[in-house]
Amino acid sequence: MCGIVGYVGPRGSQEVLLGGLGRLEYRGYDSAGVAIISANLQTRKRSGKLQTLRDELVANPLDDGHTGIGHTRWATHGAPTDVNAHPHLADGGKLALIHNGIIENFAELKAELVAEGTEFTSETDSEVAAHMVAREYHRTSNLTEAMRAVVARLDGAFTLLVVHEDSPGVVVGARRNSPLVIGLGKGENFLGSDVAAFVEYTSDALAIGQDQIVTITKDDVTVIDFDGNSVTPEPFTVTWDVSAADKGGWSSFMAKEISEEPAAVADTIRGRIKNGEVQIEGFEPSALIDVDRIIIIACGTAAYAGLVGKYALEQWARIPVDVELSHEFRYREPVISDRTLIVSVSQSGETMDTLMAVKYAREVGARTLSICNTQGATIPRESDAVIYTHAGPEVAVASTKAFVAQVTALYLLGIAIAQANGKGDSKVLAAVVRDLEATPAMLETVLLHGERIKTLAKWMADTQAILLLGRHVGYPIALEGALKLKELAYIHAEGFAAGELKHGPIALIEPGQVVFVIVPSPRDPHSLHAKVVSNIQEIRARGARVIAIAEQGDAAVLPYADEVIPIPLASSFIEPILAVVPLHIFAMELAAAKGLDVDQPRNLAKSVTVE
Ligand code: G6P
Repeated sequence: MCGIVGYVGPRGSQEVLLGGLGRLEYRGYDSAGVAIISANLQTRKRSGKLQTLRDELVANPLDDGHTGIGHTRWATHGAPTDVNAHPHLADGGKLALIHNGIIENFAELKAELVAEGTEFTSETDSEVAAHMVAREYHRTSNLTEAMRAVVARLDGAFTLLVVHEDSPGVVVGARRNSPLVIGLGKGENFLGSDVAAFVEYTSDALAIGQDQIVTITKDDVTVIDFDGNSVTPEPFTVTWDVSAADKGGWSSFMAKEISEEPAAVADTIRGRIKNGEVQIEGFEPSALIDVDRIIIIACGTAAYAGLVGKYALEQWARIPVDVELSHEFRYREPVISDRTLIVSVSQSGETMDTLMAVKYAREVGARTLSICNTQGATIPRESDAVIYTHAGPEVAVASTKAFVAQVTALYLLGIAIAQANGKGDSKVLAAVVRDLEATPAMLETVLLHGERIKTLAKWMADTQAILLLGRHVGYPIALEGALKLKELAYIHAEGFAAGELKHGPIALIEPGQVVFVIVPSPRDPHSLHAKVVSNIQEIRARGARVIAIAEQGDAAVLPYADEVIPIPLASSFIEPILAVVPLHIFAMELAAAKGLDVDQPRNLAKSVTVE
């Protein structure tokens, strides 16, 4: 939620801030603002998308300067209005502050400030922090020390950036349970919610730990903890390039990111399979051979990737695996031990629910492994080990290429553990490795059906409800397809395990009801194909319109399906990676056919950094 950028250097801050906010807009897009210090501090902020702020800056320009902060908001406290947009001003307009997170004790702090005569202009929790920093700045004349005094009094999650007209050339940031990374330039420095904020200018970055404060000038970066002790931040190199974070001629980020699903799988495998063995940098599977239970924790799309991973990990590594939504796991006192491995799955590496669940798991003695797409993010740094997915920056709010990369990473994990603990059938594992290597090329052929799926979506633009059925690894794909339809097309969509159909969902079938069915391969080892085909017959007999995602040449489906979207012949664990792509395309095209914003659906944010 909320995207944050800070800059000090020779460039005009406005361009740097707007460019960074553009790449962070996936984090929130209900208002945006900048504060820039030139001769004095000037601010512009507007409700609405970033373009509204850009228009405002044209209509009502500010004096550009070399120190600035910028914010794109996802509202928590206070409606998305101009006054509630950040930055928030204090000290008679000389201090500006931006905030990501929630200050839980803001009411009590606000009462204290009001009693002292402070006047508030917004309904936000964030404005409290602005006035508090101003008060401390008057006392200390030092922005870093002022920030340190304030964070000691805040409860909740926050990233704060602050600038003061009397300290030009300085931006001070602080973080607790909310993201902030440093970009190191030559004669310039950057702060951002993630590296996308400054990837255009530098690939040298520093990760800021929990409860730390950073002060940047154009030539210096200093980091201290909340107690004032000096800290050496961890350096890393950003492997994303700026073109990866741009639309590159596509109609939407989502369209671009779907087109990158083959590369996301290929890049996640790259360099990690050697002579049929999985070897993942920095990850030692032999350290996990005494693990007797795995719990995968995640939210949203990442949880569905986790569910696909469960089937694979159990089958190959013969370890019991549960999949839990992070927010449910955290608050039910789960039974875990030092032989439990908690695998968190998160594209952003910042989802607060997942972060809190990981911290909790560590506190109670479990081992933690993060599957994450974002370097420098908090969850991998709070975990014992990390396997990065290499999907590249994902900007569209609805996750697509990260999903297939997460499934791929979970498969690599499953194979690595199975190879290390010797429980998997080596021939089966060798076949899976070969199949995984062949998957990117198969995904390319699935993408060729894009135009047909678009036509289908246009015909169905008025559809009010869609059901999706899948079995085994097709079941999580049905759930993922339904989530995409809800997120993007704002229609009721529900995914079911096909075997559950007769236990309730079949009552929903009436003439014309659209049902997507993910059909297992006719060659699947458990004969699930026949069972799913009979499900199709059952719903067809009740008038459903069936759209089957089935293996190329699956003759058994043809007589009963209104449409068949073919996927290449693949082994059962590769099918979910292939079958999800038509559903991603369909959800995007249905939203587009309804005239909706595909990249920034209503009410959502890509990175949910509040609980
Ligand atoms: C939000 C997004 C989803 C995403 C989920 C988990 O709900 O809208 O697209 O799947 O967060 O995000 P993560 O970054 O942890 O994978």
